[in-house]
Amino acid sequence: MCSPSSSYRSITLQFLFYFMLFCIVETREHVERNGPNISAIFVFGDSTVDSGNNNYIETPLKSNFAPYGRDFPNHIPTGRFTDGRLFTDFLASYLGVKDNVPPYLDPTLSLEDMKTGVCFASAATGFDPLTAQLTNVISIQKQLEYFKEYKTRMEVYIGEERTKKLINKAVFIISAGTNDFGINYYGAPFRRQMYNISTYQEFLLQQREKFLQELLELGAQKIGFVGVPPIGCMPILISLYSKNALMYRGCIEFLSSAARDYNRMLQIKLTTTKIHGVKIVYLDIYKSIDDMIKNPQQFGFDKVNVGCCGSGLIESAFLCNPSSFVCSDPTKYIFWDSIHPTEAVYYNVFQAFRPMFDVLSNN
Ligand SMILES: *[C@@H]1O[C@H](CO)[C@@H](O)[C@H](O)[C@H]1NC(C)=O
Ligand SMILES: *[C@@H]1O[C@H](CO)[C@@H](O)[C@H](O)[C@H]1NC(C)=O
Repeated sequence: MCSPSSSYRSITLQFLFYFMLFCIVETREHVERNGPNISAIFVFGDSTVDSGNNNYIETPLKSNFAPYGRDFPNHIPTGRFTDGRLFTDFLASYLGVKDNVPPYLDPTLSLEDMKTGVCFASAATGFDPLTAQLTNVISIQKQLEYFKEYKTRMEVYIGEERTKKLINKAVFIISAGTNDFGINYYGAPFRRQMYNISTYQEFLLQQREKFLQELLELGAQKIGFVGVPPIGCMPILISLYSKNALMYRGCIEFLSSAARDYNRMLQIKLTTTKIHGVKIVYLDIYKSIDDMIKNPQQFGFDKVNVGCCGSGLIESAFLCNPSSFVCSDPTKYIFWDSIHPTEAVYYNVFQAFRPMFDVLSNN
């Protein structure tokens, strides 16, 4: 039986219900119009940006154990090759999309987590397909395949139209090239038989161009390409190439010079790529890290040519492990292990990139 007072109540409730629904719809509209301009962040490349994909593949090149992650929230060794967060994590927070960028291969990630962005990068990879083969990691071509798979999964989850918008309004960061020089060209005999350094740089730029074209076809419109850092200043390469690596630990000039030449060619390619509606920026990691190495005190550093982990001369990945000595204050070090920068460096790199990130995120 329905008494007059209860039917009155149900009308009130119905009214409240519609009113609330109206409010929810209104708020959503409001968010779409005035909220952040960026929907998500997608990351491709090597250990400079890998947040843990190598944890899920068969490779010795992992870092999901202490002392890695020492300064990450809750001290978790996530598989990032540093003591804390990467510059892409700082970028994700800055854009307001998420606190840090999770690895795509993490099976516990929900589609909702993935909606605001994921990382496809894999430590030790490069633009040259052979680089990933040498170390059995995820090639950059395979990373694109994963992004296509991601896109299909999103289309099922939120629909084709909204997936398209999500991708159009996302920031894409690509950071690779270091291993093509350090591991492949100068470390293995194969490429040097076919290419001299300039023709190899051209080859890498062609591979990068193919990658870019596919990314554009998939809908990317805001893209940041990170250059190659001063690789001659990596402690491990100083140890390998210096005539007396214990006494003379200056940067190895021919290696850094190969990086600079490549970066110069890359910048020319990027500034001459003009596509309507697409923004592409160059992110100058070389200058940022070189500034810190040349003026360490100005940035609060005092160790520039050894890593914080182990002897600092050769350790990385499994050689930097729970039984390694760890320096007491990584914020005083440019390098965390013999290859990778500390979180303190990545934070400064993020700061140096900010004007370019603003170019990407302004409508
Ligand atoms: C590399 O090879 C190309 C073509 O074979 C040649 O034109 C160029 O001068 C070479 N560059 C260097 C640095 O040896
Ligand atoms: C969004 O773009 C507008 C227009 O360019 C800009 O003024 C604003 O700062 C951007 N908002 C964010 C959160 O970046």
